[in-house]
Amino acid sequence: RLLIIDFGSQVTQLIARRLRELNVYCEIHPYNKVDDAFLQSFAPKAVILSGGPDSVTRAGSPRAPEALWSQGVPVLGICYGQQTMMQQLGGLVEHGHGTAEFGRAFVTPTADQLSILDGWFADGREQVWMSHGDHVSKIAPGFQVYGTSPNAPFAVTADPARHFYAVQFHPEVHHTPKGAQLYENFVKLAGFSGDWTMDAYREQAIAAIRQRVGDKKVICALSGGVDSSVTAILIHEAIGDQLTCVFVDHGLLRLGEAEQVVAMFRDNYNLNLIHADESELFLGKLQGVSDPETKRKIIGGLFIDVFQKYANGIEGAEFLAQGTLYPDVIESVSFSGGPSVTIKSHHNVGGLPEKMGLKLVEPLRELFKDEVRALGRELGLPASFIGRHPFPGPGLAIRCPGEITTEKLDILRQADAVYIDQIRKHGLYDEIWQAFAAILPMKTVGVMGDGRTYDYALALRAVTSVDGMTADTYPFTHDFLGETMTRIINEVKGVNRVFYDITSKPPGTIELE
Ligand code: XMP
Repeated sequence: RLLIIDFGSQVTQLIARRLRELNVYCEIHPYNKVDDAFLQSFAPKAVILSGGPDSVTRAGSPRAPEALWSQGVPVLGICYGQQTMMQQLGGLVEHGHGTAEFGRAFVTPTADQLSILDGWFADGREQVWMSHGDHVSKIAPGFQVYGTSPNAPFAVTADPARHFYAVQFHPEVHHTPKGAQLYENFVKLAGFSGDWTMDAYREQAIAAIRQRVGDKKVICALSGGVDSSVTAILIHEAIGDQLTCVFVDHGLLRLGEAEQVVAMFRDNYNLNLIHADESELFLGKLQGVSDPETKRKIIGGLFIDVFQKYANGIEGAEFLAQGTLYPDVIESVSFSGGPSVTIKSHHNVGGLPEKMGLKLVEPLRELFKDEVRALGRELGLPASFIGRHPFPGPGLAIRCPGEITTEKLDILRQADAVYIDQIRKHGLYDEIWQAFAAILPMKTVGVMGDGRTYDYALALRAVTSVDGMTADTYPFTHDFLGETMTRIINEVKGVNRVFYDITSKPPGTIELE
């Protein structure tokens, strides 16, 4: 395995993604947790030092553990990682002098071909992405320069005999087009064979689950989302009927969704599934509530109570399965440390295991989202299921601003189904991160046939995004929007007006509440 020492770069996770794409297993650990003893027990086959926001020239700034340099394994330093490598090995890093560089730059070769740059410079130079204030002004003994850019004379340096490589730019970002090639060259020379595949992972995870759980019982909250579905199927493969899943149906799901989940997991996968239809309870407690945070708190609280009630009915359960992913468990390096503002309280089951005295099984803890999808395919989940847009825990409640009523929910469900059908028919579904309809808390006047109508207005939303943190409105054509409006108004009773939400995130959020 490969160790990534994180110095706090915004893009450290991308390094891990690039390596995983090469089927190399790697882990990210913060620099302040990686000391000589850690290095020894982790025994990495290669190490990558990430970028970071600090300055090597500042006293007390982060360093790589000294033992790293005598470990005898290949080391690749990136940006801050490059600078600390130079400084620690006897070179010099300086601040300022007008050599800061942010954005696109071009690197040209300066010496013999370096193995990590195999496949580079076909056109004599290569585009890279720079983001640095400091720069190396003297390279460490034993190192040679292999690539240079106008503002970074030491853009690529290396001591090939010791397998130390250092680059000033960021090979992990999209704007360094040959970056993936650089990583591939690096892992190849470090002796990785690329055997971290989802096929291998499946076997390994099943064995690990069997060992952890033994003959005990496991319960799992199945939502029908990709993470909890893959978790449940994987555990079911490992221990069969020792697993019971509870599907809490809060009555805020999309058209036909509850039936689909039940059919798929009971009939196709033969899973022990309790369909906890508690829609009356949830909708009852939500009656008259229109404040968004109150809605979220009510749903989150009830979810835990309901899950607990059903789980308590499963005698002898000792484990709780959760679909925790790797990005949730990576310890981050925080330099600011300030509290961040709560925009929305997210729906999850945090705190449940302690409350119920259960031990955790989290078979996806080492995986990124893309890998969970690949594992899902490996486990036979249909492609249409795996590629579904994200759906929030509080469901349609947060797509129904104002008071929630069954009438509004029915209208919303039908309109959303027509809208998604339109998107699928036009082959746009996979280009969009998330699309849904919301029902607005107002009625407006319209005219249909010769009569006056006074009905609900809908908002349609569709955004592109990479991680849900920021989003852009999807640019549908007017024809598409017009056709969709006509279909919704013709097919769904109770709607006479349709808006298209053109707000990006920020300033809007993706959901309406
Ligand atoms: P916002 O509305 O905050 O949404 O821009 C960003 C992404 O998160 C989803 N979302 C949730 N997911 N529980 C979830 O599991 C929640 O409470 C929740 N609220 C928002 C939202 O659908 C979008 O993908």
